[in-house]
Amino acid sequence: MIVLGIESTAHTFGIGVIKEKKILVNKRDLFTTEEGGMVPAEVADHHVDVCDGLLKKALIEAKINMNDVDLIAFSQGPGIGHCLKVGAFFARALSLKYDKPIVGVNHCVAHLELGSMLFDCKDSVLLYVSGANTQVIAYAGGTYRIFGETLDMGVGNFIDAFARYLGLGFPGGPKIEKLASKTKEFVKLPYSVKGMDVSVGGMLTNMKRKYSSGVSKEVLCYSVQETLFAMLVEVAERALAHCGKKGLVLGGGVACNKRLQEMCKIMCIERGATLYVPPNDVLVDNAVMIAWLGLQKFSAQGRGDAYNSLKIRPYERTDDVKVGWK
Ligand code: ATP
Ligand code: FE2
Repeated sequence: MIVLGIESTAHTFGIGVIKEKKILVNKRDLFTTEEGGMVPAEVADHHVDVCDGLLKKALIEAKINMNDVDLIAFSQGPGIGHCLKVGAFFARALSLKYDKPIVGVNHCVAHLELGSMLFDCKDSVLLYVSGANTQVIAYAGGTYRIFGETLDMGVGNFIDAFARYLGLGFPGGPKIEKLASKTKEFVKLPYSVKGMDVSVGGMLTNMKRKYSSGVSKEVLCYSVQETLFAMLVEVAERALAHCGKKGLVLGGGVACNKRLQEMCKIMCIERGATLYVPPNDVLVDNAVMIAWLGLQKFSAQGRGDAYNSLKIRPYERTDDVKVGWK
């Protein structure tokens, strides 16, 4: 089956096409700023501007036309309402115009399921670290269970907030990583693991204070990475031990960070577990993962979703999703 995926939960508008497990194309257009963050209505305007052009390019690159597509899948939630509506509307219009079945999928579960498209990693814990989300998840008893998560802000949004403060623009993660690589000088920042959860509250104020008193950008970037990632590795390791799982799969944009990957690798080697790291272009928000989850949902249901069930779900949680395909 050929599946067209559409992603529009936040900053990224994406079109991906897969044929079973083969990626035919993965196109993305990212809303970025030189400084300042995202204004929902502006991001949605961006998605409206790029959607049809990106689809045309994707079809040409995949060497198919809309008639070859067997299924359309789109991100139904969670995310920014303005942005989700653009994707939902675009997907539904294409479904009606070309008479194709359509399914809506959960964006976070799509990040998690991507591992199963790329690796044989059934018995794994997932460390999902993106902009809005920071969760340690394992599949158990018919659903994805969240073993630990951030108590306040997602690690990506936190890093972006600090980057914004430094005037580095959006997305901040890659810029922070670059600055961090310039030093190994560490300053102590609040390290906050509570049971299986992490918290970043208070860290930004602490960093701002240190910056005003003369600590360099580089030292702060290095220290924030070391501190945040150590917190994540600690809870991921505890989840591996608790669940008795043998693999760790990374997901989400922050997992592109080489230092986070390295720290996870060290922990996995020490525990005799395997680390699975998808390539960067499918770690960040992308529509290939949406197409892949759509294919599994469609195969399990044996049909597309009814049109009256396609409303966006801005607040849908990972553990709300009924997993019928495993
Ligand atoms: P969600 O999946 O929660 O909806 P999202 O839509 O913001 O989140 P992604 O595209 O998965 O997510 O991740 C974007 C985040 O990843 C941004 O916060 C960005 O700064 C961060 N990021 C990207 N590359 C890196 C990097 N090399 N190091 C650290 N963070 C990074
Ligand atoms: Fe995401």
